[in-house]
Amino acid sequence: MNAPLPRSVLRDSDTDEPQLFQPARIGDLELANRVVMAPLTRSRADEVAGDIPGSAMNVEYYRQRSNAGLIISEGTQVAPAGKGYMATPGIYSDAQVEGWKPVTQAVHEAGSRIVAQIWHVGRITHPSLTGGLHPVAPSALAPQEVVAYTHEGKVEVPVPHALSVQEIAEVVEQFRRGAANAMRAGFDGVEIHGANGYLIDQFLRDGANQRTDAYGGSIENRCRFALEVVDAVVAEIGAGRVGIRLSPVTPVNGIADSDPQAVFGYLVQELDKRGIAFVHFIEGSTGGSRDLPGFDYAWARSTFRGAYIANNGYDRDTAIDAVASGRADAVAFGRAYIANPDLVQRLKAGAALNTPFPQTFYTPGPAGYIDYPAL
Ligand SMILES: Cc1cc2nc3c(=O)[nH]c(=O)nc-3n(C[C@H](O)[C@H](O)[C@H](O)COP(=O)(O)O)c2cc1C
Repeated sequence: MNAPLPRSVLRDSDTDEPQLFQPARIGDLELANRVVMAPLTRSRADEVAGDIPGSAMNVEYYRQRSNAGLIISEGTQVAPAGKGYMATPGIYSDAQVEGWKPVTQAVHEAGSRIVAQIWHVGRITHPSLTGGLHPVAPSALAPQEVVAYTHEGKVEVPVPHALSVQEIAEVVEQFRRGAANAMRAGFDGVEIHGANGYLIDQFLRDGANQRTDAYGGSIENRCRFALEVVDAVVAEIGAGRVGIRLSPVTPVNGIADSDPQAVFGYLVQELDKRGIAFVHFIEGSTGGSRDLPGFDYAWARSTFRGAYIANNGYDRDTAIDAVASGRADAVAFGRAYIANPDLVQRLKAGAALNTPFPQTFYTPGPAGYIDYPAL
């Protein structure tokens, strides 16, 4: 069976190198290879100054990893209420835009591309992380068994405030401004964070969205917020620079849905109509099992004509195979990129990989951030 060739991906090289390491075009972006650095929250922005990225250490971290064809930045909140963890960077203030500039410049100088992951956590937060703002969500339902990590330690997340229709429009506008700011900061585009149980995902799923207005109930209604965000961002920066991350079956952050295939099936068809550059699928449970039923990724791959970026639990062989077989156009690595600044060189050489240390994933300072050794 021949899947339609994605319109945005070049397959033009005839070297012996696995296609994973060959150049590609995703939307408007020319990539040196098809290895993607997954979005990775590292909680090392300057929180006191206003969640500002771009310290020398932050620049060095991204510079070291600029061997990826494409870097997707750590999640970057589009508004103060969209922040869910300590010291995550924002993309709503002028100082944050200035902070990102040396990061994007360093990545470009090293020959890579970088898009900003634009993020709103919705109900997965606590007022002590948002400057006192109460968490918001489609419905006033707290997630099951989710805690927020604050400066005072682990705390239960409160029951969120259900957004009014007017407030929903304001959040759409925050995403639009986030995309505009990303371009001002020198990013090549954006990835809209529609995964992992955060605000967009909360609207998509009937386990979190029990609205009875135009944003809840039917599948079309539950996808309305996601598509309004996509449309606003596309109108601002152009479809060729826009991607979205989805995790149809992940259970993380207390998210659930009675029929992921139906919801994400409709969404993928609508995204295809809009001609965005890529959809980035977390296949299975984020950071866990890939073998969860409920969504047909091969169907999505053949339905969506932009690029398909695959993620979750890939290694060298499975990544090479995914691209060679046409199951994916590119493969994103998360934990492997934390621990291996020179991941592409190591994958090309078939070299051993460093082991990531979870205890320094979110700690301040350079340890476990910029000191993993290259080959
Ligand atoms: C420390 C850490 C931070 C993460 N931060 C984000 C994030 O900001 N945005 C996001 O979409 N996913 C985030 N993820 C999920 C990863 O992007 C990825 O989906 C996950 O690690 C599975 O891929 P892997 O098996 O290649 O590690 C994070 C994962 C880890 C381990």
